Amino acid sequence: MRPKIIVHGGAGEIVDEHINAHISGCQEAIEVGWEILDQGGTSLMAIEHSIRLLEDNPVFDAGRGSYLNQDGFVEMDAIVMNGDDLNIGAVAGVRQIRNPISLAIQILHKSEHNILGGQGALQFAQDLDLEECELDWFITDYTRDICKKQISNSKKFGTVGCVALDSYGNLASGTSTGGIKNKATGRIGDTPLVGSGAYADNLTASVSATGNGEAIMKVVLSKLACDLTITHDSIESAAREAIQILYNRTNSHAGLIMIDPKGNLGCAFNTPRMSRAWVDNSGDIQARIYPDN
Ligand code: GLY
Repeated sequence: MRPKIIVHGGAGEIVDEHINAHISGCQEAIEVGWEILDQGGTSLMAIEHSIRLLEDNPVFDAGRGSYLNQDGFVEMDAIVMNGDDLNIGAVAGVRQIRNPISLAIQILHKSEHNILGGQGALQFAQDLDLEECELDWFITDYTRDICKKQISNSKKFGTVGCVALDSYGNLASGTSTGGIKNKATGRIGDTPLVGSGAYADNLTASVSATGNGEAIMKVVLSKLACDLTITHDSIESAAREAIQILYNRTNSHAGLIMIDPKGNLGCAFNTPRMSRAWVDNSGDIQARIYPDN
């Protein structure tokens, strides 16, 4: 089966000076994930390595570059889900782990639990020798400035994600985030909540969501989009309907990417911009940030 992969770098009012970096960051992430899939790697492997690049890229709200909380440091959430066995790995509120997506992957493979947070998540990561960084390493001039100015806005979100279908026909999804601007310390968003920040089921679809976490979790957006594929003719219309339901019920904003078991790609968002990249049927990388092109 021909593999498929799509990544996103978040939905929101991405500022003009960040557009090029968003596009090139998504392109780099998709190249890495595509190469893994093309060489017979699994969807989970592709997702981990694509998202690690996005986390290390300071233009995105995940890993280095995560928005700061009200006390001026980062707290990050991440999730991965496997569509074959519905296995989940997620972390909530981790502080000094360089790549929260890799911690989520380790939890999926090695923990009897689905979600770890706080001191237990840190201990789990340290037992596996996952890389740690000083809290200052995660902070950029841009995020420090936003924090100082106390900027918060209902359409300014971040988050990164990736969904993939591997050559064995297995779907998976992953999402990683620093959350929203100037969030309360200890706030957990939608990302690590299964069905909200991501969902993957080989019987329906795999989804990664981005946007206002408080709203996303009310409609369990990623699971909603998966379930809508059962009654919709195309994955694109299922994606659009999920975002419309989110808006109708919460008056809020979000975006999502998805792949169905046949390899069809979907994307929908109701924010001004959402950066994303994918490999088209000719094997060429495509990247976009605006709604219509
Ligand atoms: N969707 C990211 C967050 O609200 O944390």
